[in-house]
Amino acid sequence: MPLPLQKALARLDQLGLVSDSPELLVRTFLSPANRKASELVLDWMKELGMELSHAADGTVCGILPGSDPKAKPILLGSHIDTVIDAGKYDGPLGVIAALAALETLQQEKTTLTFPVHLLAFSDEEGTRFQTTYLGSRSITGPLDAATLATKDADGITVAAAIEDHGWDEGSTIIRYAKGECRGYVELHIEQGRVLEEAHEACCVVSSIAGQSRLTIKLTGRADHAGTTPMPLRRDSLTGSAECILAAEALAKSQPPLVITVGKIQIHPGASNSVPQTTIFTIDLRHPDNAARCLALEELRQKFSNIAEKRSLGLHWQPVQDNDATPCDPELTNQLLESLSAVTGSRRSLASGAGHDGVAISKICPIAMLFIRCRDGLSHHPEEHASPEDIGTGIAVLTHFLKSLTP
Ligand code: GLV
Ligand code: MN
Ligand code: MN
Repeated sequence: MPLPLQKALARLDQLGLVSDSPELLVRTFLSPANRKASELVLDWMKELGMELSHAADGTVCGILPGSDPKAKPILLGSHIDTVIDAGKYDGPLGVIAALAALETLQQEKTTLTFPVHLLAFSDEEGTRFQTTYLGSRSITGPLDAATLATKDADGITVAAAIEDHGWDEGSTIIRYAKGECRGYVELHIEQGRVLEEAHEACCVVSSIAGQSRLTIKLTGRADHAGTTPMPLRRDSLTGSAECILAAEALAKSQPPLVITVGKIQIHPGASNSVPQTTIFTIDLRHPDNAARCLALEELRQKFSNIAEKRSLGLHWQPVQDNDATPCDPELTNQLLESLSAVTGSRRSLASGAGHDGVAISKICPIAMLFIRCRDGLSHHPEEHASPEDIGTGIAVLTHFLKSLTP
């Protein structure tokens, strides 16, 4: 097995142990484990002789200069934050595979003409704040006021988290102007079953589905569980249950629309109290922007009818909307040529998952390479990509970097 691949597999294991919880893998924006992960990635970048920097939000960057000082850089990378009870590949694989591709080039004594900037983003999942891409959005410009005011479960805003718990010491603002970079390329596990069913190791990505995230609050009245007759109750949880089932039915009736309720909180949260307030999240995705907006409107109408029928207050709070993002045809075609040269495949696939490229597409062309993952399983501790497929992905990325014109 080539040394860069061996190192990549060991690094995946090592990073997979860096967690905010002893029982499961979780690293969220500006958490202690996320900071530790950033430091680990910086150590690996240092081994490669990269110029290092970090932002106060925990995003790290390693720069490998090219032989032409005037050449525009290419950006590589992915995110190092995770969901709760995550697998070790979603995100870190993109950073670690890029390191392995650069190590392969160093072993071969190949110097690229252009600089490579390798980025490890501190937030892509949005696990802590529900709003996504905090790391990659920040490299394209300052975060907007609404994002900075978004609160986590403890009421801490994004702004306060960065201000009070940011990694200030030695930090710089990592930022790129539009047109400054020749492109951003990310390797990521597929998180679906297409490659597995096709018996192929890798493919390129054509586009990234649009996504809306919301917080829904239904308000009823707390009451005694033993004495309040059923017709007199204003139960926010049973109302939410009806809303959630309506959301599921809507998504099932309009494929490829997908809607997920992944988090729910009940107040007061006692077995003998009728729930007064229920807050739950909505994650709604569709590859077509118009269809996503129509589905959102339909959902809002359904929730509003349910709330009215049950005498509940409804607060519909949009958190984030991301349009579907096409990958750049030219850069993707170059990546496809490398895929074809290494594997013989020319497969291209639309991504249902969100990726940092959505944010970075505002400043430069983006392209992505997907790696097959077992059972298409992701956001799960048993997420797995085989060493062979990871090796193939590294080979495609290495070929791509060498084939880019000076
Ligand atoms: C990230 O994995 C997302 O698609 O939510
Ligand atoms: Mn990811
Ligand atoms: Mn993810």
